[in-house]
Amino acid sequence: MGGVLLDSKLVLAPMAGIADSSFRLICKEKGASLAYTEMVSADGLVRGNDRTMALLSFSEAERPLAVQLFGSDPRTMAAAAKRAAALSPDLIDLNFGCPARKVVGRQAGCALLNNLALLRQIASAVVSSVSVPVTAKIRSGWDPRSVNAGRVSQMLQDCGVKAVAVHARSRAEKFGGRADWGVIARVKSSVDIPVIGNGDVTGPEDAARMLEETGCDAVMIGRGALGNPWVFSRSRHFLSTGELLPLPSTSERLEQLLRHMALVRQKSDSEHLVVAMRKHVGWYTKGLPGSSKLRQKANRAVSWSQMRQLVMDFADSLGEAERLKGVGDAA
Ligand SMILES: Cc1cc2nc3c(=O)[nH]c(=O)nc-3n(C[C@H](O)[C@H](O)[C@H](O)COP(=O)(O)O)c2cc1C
Repeated sequence: MGGVLLDSKLVLAPMAGIADSSFRLICKEKGASLAYTEMVSADGLVRGNDRTMALLSFSEAERPLAVQLFGSDPRTMAAAAKRAAALSPDLIDLNFGCPARKVVGRQAGCALLNNLALLRQIASAVVSSVSVPVTAKIRSGWDPRSVNAGRVSQMLQDCGVKAVAVHARSRAEKFGGRADWGVIARVKSSVDIPVIGNGDVTGPEDAARMLEETGCDAVMIGRGALGNPWVFSRSRHFLSTGELLPLPSTSERLEQLLRHMALVRQKSDSEHLVVAMRKHVGWYTKGLPGSSKLRQKANRAVSWSQMRQLVMDFADSLGEAERLKGVGDAA
C-alpha cells in the first residue's frame, strides 16, 4: 500500500471507543499486521481539541499504523491530514463508512457515498497535501439499492488512494444482517490497488473463506477481536499451516485481561479509563461461569483497584487466582 508492506493478511479494524493504543498493541502482538487509530475528527484536529489530539497518540510498536480521519470539507481534511502527517503515521486513512447519525448528518463518513463529487474532492485534496500514503475505508453503499463500492473504489484509485477497505454492508444495514462479501469480490475485480475485505470475520476459517471467496488482499477484523485478540494468532497460524489451534484457555483469557488493564493504566492512571475497561471485562470473560454477575459488578466499578479485585475474585471462583497472582501488578 504505497510502499507499506504488511507481514500478514490480517488487519485490526478501526473501532471508536475500543481500538485505542493499548488494544492495538495487544492485537499487534497477537499478529495483526496493521492497525488504525479510532476515527479522528478533521475539525477537532485542526482546532487542536485535546480529546481529539489524545486519539492520535500511538507507540512505535503499533506500526504500521494508519491515522483515520473523518470530515466533509476538503480543505479542512487536507489541513488535518498535514497535521496528522507531522506525527509520521505509516498511512492516513479516510473514513467514508461511518453510519452514525451525528457523522452522516454533517455530510461525513458514509454520507459521502451519496455525494461522489465531494468524496472525490476530499480524496484528491488529502492525497495532494501529504506524502504519507492515503487509504480509504468505505461501505458497500448508502442502501441496498445504491451499492456503489466498485465505482467509489475506482474513483479513489484515480485520486491516488493506495488501498481501500470495504465493509460489505450499506449504511442502511448498519451492523445488521450478514455482510455481502460479493461486494468485496466485485471491488477487487474493479481496481488494481489492494483491497481489504471486512465484515463478519470472527475466526480463522472465516478469514480463509473471505480471502478465497473474494480474492481480497487482506482481511479486516473488528468485533471478532473483542475479548479475543487470539483471532489474529489463530488465523495467522491457520492461513499458513491449515491447522486450527484451540481457543484460549480460561487462564489465558484472564491473564490477557489483567495485562490489558495494566497496559491501559501504564499509559494513564486516570480512573476515568476504568469505565472504558468495563466492556473489555465483559468480552474477555464472556461465556465463563459467573461472567454475567462479574459484568454487572464491573459495570459499577469506578477505580482500578476495585476492578482488579473483581477480576481476581472471579479468577478465584474459577480456581485460577493463584496462577494469576502478580500478573499486571507492575503497572
Ligand atoms: C464499536 C465500533 C466502533 C467502530 N468505529 C469505527 C471507526 O472509528 N472507524 C471506522 O472506519 N469503522 C468503525 N467501525 C466499523 C468497523 O471498523 C468494521 O467496519 C465493522 O465493525 C465490521 O467489521 P466486523 O464485522 O469485523 O466487526 C466501528 C465498529 C464498531 C463495532
